[in-house]
Amino acid sequence: MSTYQRFAYVYDQMGSDEFSIKMYRYTQKILNRLRYHPKSVADLACGTGTAALLWAKNNIEVFGLDNSAHMLDMARKKAKKDRLKIDFSQQSLTSFTLPQQVDLATCYFDSLNYLLTLEEVTECFKSAHRALYPNGYFIFDVNTPEAMKVLWGSQVYADETDDMAWIWKNCYYPKIKQAEVRATFFVRKGKMWERFDEIHAERGYTATEMKKALAAANFKIVNMYDCLRFVKPDRQTLRLAVVARKIK
Ligand SMILES: C[S@@+](CC[C@H](N)C(=O)[O-])C[C@H]1O[C@@H](n2cnc3c(N)ncnc32)[C@H](O)[C@@H]1O
Repeated sequence: MSTYQRFAYVYDQMGSDEFSIKMYRYTQKILNRLRYHPKSVADLACGTGTAALLWAKNNIEVFGLDNSAHMLDMARKKAKKDRLKIDFSQQSLTSFTLPQQVDLATCYFDSLNYLLTLEEVTECFKSAHRALYPNGYFIFDVNTPEAMKVLWGSQVYADETDDMAWIWKNCYYPKIKQAEVRATFFVRKGKMWERFDEIHAERGYTATEMKKALAAANFKIVNMYDCLRFVKPDRQTLRLAVVARKIK
């Protein structure tokens, strides 16, 4: 079952865009600490384009890529509404190219966890390396295996608004560090309700695995944090924030 199809059109409505706003603000703080002011950004797995729009509103040249045509459709509609020029393209994280190099690459909100092997993550990092100017930064977040265990174990999350309801049934498979979410959505259509389902799989990655994959792609790790804070990650960390720099 493919993901981010019908879900794309209710993603923002469900508040799923809020995390990328937080990551955008956190990235600004990281960049201020580094005294690095990018003029061009590539947002990898840009989804509905929330972060891409924020960069573009700051007069930064933006490229957004994602493999979901539906998420990109939403992103393009949002950019058109705000009269922003953003280069969105349908590409895979593992083998993307850009028309030009950029100063900063970002990848937010579990997107890397959708790559289910460390080899695929390494391919993504190699593509990001090619996309960056020398000394360019790559800033991303990634869920750890601890997050998969704690947040994605055998649990059910549900919520509703006037026009929507959703149920997420999670299951974690520790041997392969993978979690599966069976998501069911109900969306009001006049007097009727439409139901649709998606199955999402994510894999958790450790700090050690991220170091290995970044080194293989010629990135130097500048900092690794417990995400959205400025403290070092530890065994309880659920989400890593990684700041890496292209070294050659
Ligand atoms: C949780 S969403 C995050 C979207 C956006 N970054 C945000 O912060 O709202 C994960 C995104 O990753 C994209 N994605 C998953 N696997 C991908 C792949 N192999 N190549 C490109 N995009 C991928 C999905 O289509 C989806 O838009």
